[in-house]
Amino acid sequence: DGHDDFLQCMSLQSNNHTSISNIVYTPNNTSYSSILNFSIQNLRFTSETTPKPLVIVTPVHESQIQPVIYCAKENGMQIRVRSGGHDYEGLSYASEVPFVILDLFNLREISVDAENKTAWIQAGSTIGELYYRIAEKSQTLGFPAGVCPTVGTGGHFSGGGYGALLRKYGLAADNIIDARIVDVNGRILDRISMGEDLFWAIRGGGGASFGVILAWKIQLVDVPEKVTVFTIDKTLDQNATNIVHRWQYIAHKFDEDLFIRILITRVNSSEDSKRTIQATFQSLFLGGVDRLLPLMQQSFPELGLQREDCTEMSWIESILYFAGFPIESRDVLLNRTQPNVRYYKAKSDYVQKPISKNGLQGIWKLFFEEEAEEAVMILSPYGGRMDEISESAIPFPHRAGNLYKIQHLVYWEEEEVEATQNYINWIRKLYSYMAPYVSRFPRAAYINYRDLDIGVNNNGNTSYAQASIWGIKYFKNNFNRLVQVKTKVDPANFFRNEQSIPPLNSWW
Ligand code: FDA
Repeated sequence: DGHDDFLQCMSLQSNNHTSISNIVYTPNNTSYSSILNFSIQNLRFTSETTPKPLVIVTPVHESQIQPVIYCAKENGMQIRVRSGGHDYEGLSYASEVPFVILDLFNLREISVDAENKTAWIQAGSTIGELYYRIAEKSQTLGFPAGVCPTVGTGGHFSGGGYGALLRKYGLAADNIIDARIVDVNGRILDRISMGEDLFWAIRGGGGASFGVILAWKIQLVDVPEKVTVFTIDKTLDQNATNIVHRWQYIAHKFDEDLFIRILITRVNSSEDSKRTIQATFQSLFLGGVDRLLPLMQQSFPELGLQREDCTEMSWIESILYFAGFPIESRDVLLNRTQPNVRYYKAKSDYVQKPISKNGLQGIWKLFFEEEAEEAVMILSPYGGRMDEISESAIPFPHRAGNLYKIQHLVYWEEEEVEATQNYINWIRKLYSYMAPYVSRFPRAAYINYRDLDIGVNNNGNTSYAQASIWGIKYFKNNFNRLVQVKTKVDPANFFRNEQSIPPLNSWW
């Protein structure tokens, strides 16, 4: 069958210095399940009915990737490249078609050049590992990527990637200055040899459509020796509705050293243990508390920030703080597995006009429903550097004009299909409710919060028109340029998945 032929092809392809038998796992192998499951972040895709790979390959050297591409092509198998495994819809490790997982977790070398403020990082490394290695070399350098340390740089950077430095420095993808990729013909290319079109495409267009990204060269950014963090909770009794409403008008205009995001959840009030809505204001300020307090007094007095709410710390400690770890536990940044993996479904939205108080109250109402017990809505302010970068600089198009981004999330514990459907229905209901309040034409979405509800490809023969349905939401007008790049670098559409960029010759 397919996988025997694939294995045979692999052994014929491997040469003396790249023995492959110890990096290939099939279902007969005792480690197959643990290798498959260890980086899965969504229990929805760990069930017995989730389609599994025929083979998993875990290269320890770049030269072992080329044979995987060649042999997958020869045997009609798809490749799913996995770096950190955080894809919200499991596209890096689950598919209905025969496929092999190319798992890059062994390729995670990071070399930081503090003097030149750059780093080369292999795509199998996580952002936690990156932050840790930067801090080893310097207290005053950082990088503007995501919050959760286990996120992989392969998927995260190729889809944009943002965190608390977004208003000051933009996205991870805005700060990539070189890359190495294996193309469909097995050639290893860097920025010069791949050319500016392909280099543009992989910084925000999703890596999976274009090849296997091996490594990124990034521009590190300056951070002060001391930053300040705070977290303030406001329930409905504590004026949450008015403060959230107000935040929408000002958060994108704050000094770009100030990032305040909001997490909306339902909680039981500590006073009467009745259900209420809680807005958690979580902040990173790039400076000391003495500068922050007058700034907050001037720009957001409604929050009532006090000195005792604030903690000064180093930037690397703020990474641990935002991720919910004790700031002394720096080594957890090197862990590749998350402590708390659950079932979830997520969606994203962009807000361009403040939502009215009535509109917010309608959201609260949905959060009072049963299914929302573990739901979260995360509002992340834009503005600052995000307003200065043009919509076409990289494929990620959501720039000036956006006040903030919303991530809608619902988590649950039950495994049953019926329960799953209830939670998914709930988040779809929330998403329909939000329609009048968020971006339209297109209703924009963030590719790193992958959502197959907004449209999928037919396997293999997807028309441009069909892919535009989800493609324009993620990329706006940049979708057309992504299609052109795809047509040039992978005209036969070998690198594909449920939401990959189609080449133009598949237009039929
Ligand atoms: P994974 O390995 O699943 O890959 C995702 C996609 O990229 C797949 O299509 C995969 O094939 C492709 N891919 C991966 N490596 C590749 C490579 N080397 N070459 C080519 N294609 C490759 N986002 C954010 O912006 N800010 C945040 O703070 C967070 N926080 C966060 C927390 C948690 C718990 C989760 C689960 C997710 C996030 N995210 C996020 C979303 C995250 O950015 C998104 O899921 C990334 O695609 C994850 O990249 P991984 O490499 O981990 O995923």
